[in-house]
Amino acid sequence: MSRVCLIDVCKTFAAAAPPVVDKLSVEMAENEFLVLLGPSGCGKSTTMRMIAGLETVTSGEIRIDGRVVNDLEPKDRDVAMVFQDYALYPHMNVARNMSFSLRLARLSADEIKRRVAVAAKMLDIEELLNRKPAQLSGGQRQRVAIGRAIVRDAGVFLFDEPLSNLDARLRGQMRDELALMRRELNKSVVYVTHDQIEAMTLGDRIVVLSDGRAQQIGTPEALYKRPTNQFVAGFIGTPPMNFLPGELRETDGELTVDGDGFCFALPDRMRERVSGRHRREVVVGVRPAAFMPAAEARADTGGRLKLPVLVSEYVGASSIVISRCGGRRIVLEIRSDNALPAGDSMEFFVAGEAVYLFDPENGQAI
Ligand SMILES: Nc1ncnc2c1ncn2[C@@H]1O[C@H](COP(=O)(O)OP(=O)(O)OP(=O)(O)O)[C@@H](O)[C@H]1O
Ligand SMILES: [Mg+2]
Repeated sequence: MSRVCLIDVCKTFAAAAPPVVDKLSVEMAENEFLVLLGPSGCGKSTTMRMIAGLETVTSGEIRIDGRVVNDLEPKDRDVAMVFQDYALYPHMNVARNMSFSLRLARLSADEIKRRVAVAAKMLDIEELLNRKPAQLSGGQRQRVAIGRAIVRDAGVFLFDEPLSNLDARLRGQMRDELALMRRELNKSVVYVTHDQIEAMTLGDRIVVLSDGRAQQIGTPEALYKRPTNQFVAGFIGTPPMNFLPGELRETDGELTVDGDGFCFALPDRMRERVSGRHRREVVVGVRPAAFMPAAEARADTGGRLKLPVLVSEYVGASSIVISRCGGRRIVLEIRSDNALPAGDSMEFFVAGEAVYLFDPENGQAI
């Protein structure tokens, strides 16, 4: 039931270098599954290693269950970490690999057996306990690595990109299994990934990191629906949000944003937020799935736009359409039965509620 709390945590490797983790603050709830999400090099592993005690904290505080752990040895922190490269002992079978830390801790044989059995059941590797790592598939090895951590019954589990070595299909399968297992595990988990789908499906909350700074901390839904800035808006959601330059106007009492090839009427509730920005440039954000065939338009605000179909990629129920608006490449996601072949043009509608606006100077959401 341990909770991890980071307070203004900074990490600098060299005195003159910019911080790799910059004033990161986040307080985990009990048994929360917290995801650290961000591009390569943004400081995810460093944050994780500081929580585990494998890296010192330059300034700030890390607390686990209310206790400051900055100066505690890793073994005294009540954390179990699963590393990206799962490093199993090749000469030991699965059961011995999983029980290694328990034997070191001198638990009774019965207790070790019980814990390994519980973890093996949870991970569905009961049949594999006598095999050596070389006799396992990648996904099975991955599960053994996770099993080795969860037998430890630590208060906090740290997973650093545990699925990154798997192919796309196995990755999806393991992701679903982790999602199922996390309910049974009922522990505090900090989970690092650069895969936003993994983050969205697993996390109670997600910390979006860029250059060592938290851009936004929130539930998957909050990040998707109300991104605080253009970075988060572009990072959460696949395919990513489209961004177009536009200008805000008020004509005959109607609030609009227009640009090359589009003009969207905005809902009244945006009036307050855009006050003082009339005739000013903004960045207009529209998610690929927000484009609907014009015939299906049923909102008061928004606008129509005619777009060429440059490429149409069939992916099953939906199709990804590459198009161009005002000279910029945009991506649309539409139902396949509505998709036209490349070379045609289609009329679309975007609802005013689906239009995001950002300040072009600082990227903040308007
Ligand atoms: N021991 C170190 N000494 C100096 N710089 C380091 C050290 N460890 C990490 N860094 C730097 O800190 C930054 C963050 O690294 P970190 O490993 O935390 O990134 P990450 O978000 O985990 O990236 P990835 O997704 O690629 O694993 C990088 O620029 C990296 O080069
Ligand atoms: Mg890393």
